[in-house]
Amino acid sequence: MNAEYFVFADLEEMSHMAATIFSCAARTAIATTGRFTVAISGGSTPRRLYVLLGTEYRDKIPWDRVEFFWVDERCVPAEHEESNYGMAYGIMLSNLPVPGTRIHPIDCAQDPEQAALKYEAEIRKCLGSDGTPSFDLVILGVGADGHTASLFPGSEALSEKERLALPVHGGDPESWRVTLTLPVMNNAQNVLFLVSGGRKAGVVSGVLEDTEARARLPAGLVSPLQGNCTWLLDREAAEGLSR
Ligand code: 6PG
Repeated sequence: MNAEYFVFADLEEMSHMAATIFSCAARTAIATTGRFTVAISGGSTPRRLYVLLGTEYRDKIPWDRVEFFWVDERCVPAEHEESNYGMAYGIMLSNLPVPGTRIHPIDCAQDPEQAALKYEAEIRKCLGSDGTPSFDLVILGVGADGHTASLFPGSEALSEKERLALPVHGGDPESWRVTLTLPVMNNAQNVLFLVSGGRKAGVVSGVLEDTEARARLPAGLVSPLQGNCTWLLDREAAEGLSR
């Protein structure tokens, strides 16, 4: 596994580093290709990052060149408190001059299978129709059970080789979701994991230091073929690591 990790005193410090990484990746991609394609995650951990991007980084990134996608979505309306799109819009995107045409939510409230196909078509339309698309940056979180995005331990979706997005039924509480698949994550230029809290220490040490656990846990299966894989951890999340 080609991952590197960095440990921070707390979520605040970690979020500032995540914002710096986001900004560097955006500037590099925009200088090279004229735009920056990013897939962002839900969950509580990236919230502070999103607030920073929507405030302190408002004038530091050419937001009109950023294409926003999501790594997963819960199949609820956008106004629902569990909506990943709704969360990111409320605390970040509503403050930023990103054109509406560059915001690509997963609208799966009605029909998860149709929504996954539609999302896949949207990704291909924007990133290219040949082969597996390559996002400039994919931001992921991890659950204490090792799930990432909506790829849960033991799920059939983990063996998907062709589809870019799939409907899945899982999570706690169980519900319908749509998730990006491993081939897309593993074709990214940069993958950034954000992990906070002692509840996740076991899974962090498993993925980063234990070959058997890595092969079993969804987060351990994220290993970009050519891109960078960076884990940002707060002190509690890192407490199970041996060094
Ligand atoms: C989601 C996610 C999910 C999340 C982890 C960690 O939509 O909830 O994409 O994979 O990143 O469950 O969530 P926390 O940051 O809340 O611990």
